[in-house]
Amino acid sequence: MTDDPLRNAAEIIEKSTEKDAIPSVKSFFDEATFTASHVVYDPATREAAIIDSVMDYDPASGRTGEASARKIMEFIQAESLNVVWQLETHAHADHLSAAPWLQEKLGGKLAIGAHIIDVQNVFGKIFNAGTDFARDGSQFDHLFADGEKFRVGKLEAVALHVPGHTPADMAYVIGNVAFIGDTLFMPDFGTARADFPGGDARQLFHSIRRLLSLPRETRLYLCHDYKAPGRDTYCFVTTVGAERDGNIHVHDGVSEAAFIKMRQERDTHLAMPNLLMPSVQVNMRGGHLPEAEDDGVSYIKIPVNRL
Ligand SMILES: [Fe+2]
Repeated sequence: MTDDPLRNAAEIIEKSTEKDAIPSVKSFFDEATFTASHVVYDPATREAAIIDSVMDYDPASGRTGEASARKIMEFIQAESLNVVWQLETHAHADHLSAAPWLQEKLGGKLAIGAHIIDVQNVFGKIFNAGTDFARDGSQFDHLFADGEKFRVGKLEAVALHVPGHTPADMAYVIGNVAFIGDTLFMPDFGTARADFPGGDARQLFHSIRRLLSLPRETRLYLCHDYKAPGRDTYCFVTTVGAERDGNIHVHDGVSEAAFIKMRQERDTHLAMPNLLMPSVQVNMRGGHLPEAEDDGVSYIKIPVNRL
């Protein structure tokens, strides 16, 4: 192992070819928010990580629902898996996390990137969250640094900081696969937006180039799919090679300047996600609802004319 996170990740991927070191992955897709959640596990030890789970939320009624999370729980129970991590690739702005609910049922340490503190500072201000909202990441059990190694059973893993979509985005290389959050989408759809507070198209370009330096055959599991024009099915797994050859925004040969220009122009035409307000306020708290007020009810705020 070296000090270079990407070389370490590539080493882990290359070593993970023996039969007993290959992770199993089961994905779940939430059509309401176009979010892919993943369960990755070591078939030998049955230890598992849940990545980017979804708590259902109906914005009209303000009600949460567990149907999506329950599907993940039932899979874990049916397969007799032992959950050791509840991983978030970032503080999502388009769906609420179900990690605390799943953690209560199944266990596992709730973790996100260390730069969540930057996100908490930005959104704590935007939502005037007050002094009782801790902006130190303490809502999570663990904060990952770039290059930090961890394990899921016998599978070796490394966390990579891939900012741009938000300041705190992480990718998780586990065995010979990678869970890359909101960086790349399917090659025919392109890349994640970089216009949320704290987002940065230049950073996103460099994060993507880091991910694309992994071995070509590495499978990449995405956080979203929206079906590209002309495609009728949802897809949320691709490879480094397919992205390098064919990603419509950032295939090999696209310059940093061309990417930034494309990304910034495209972002000016994108609407805010439907669930931005509840998602950010809940996810900046590690998936917990804002503290209940004196009537015992939790409230989501809408800052008027702010975003
Ligand atoms: Fe996102």
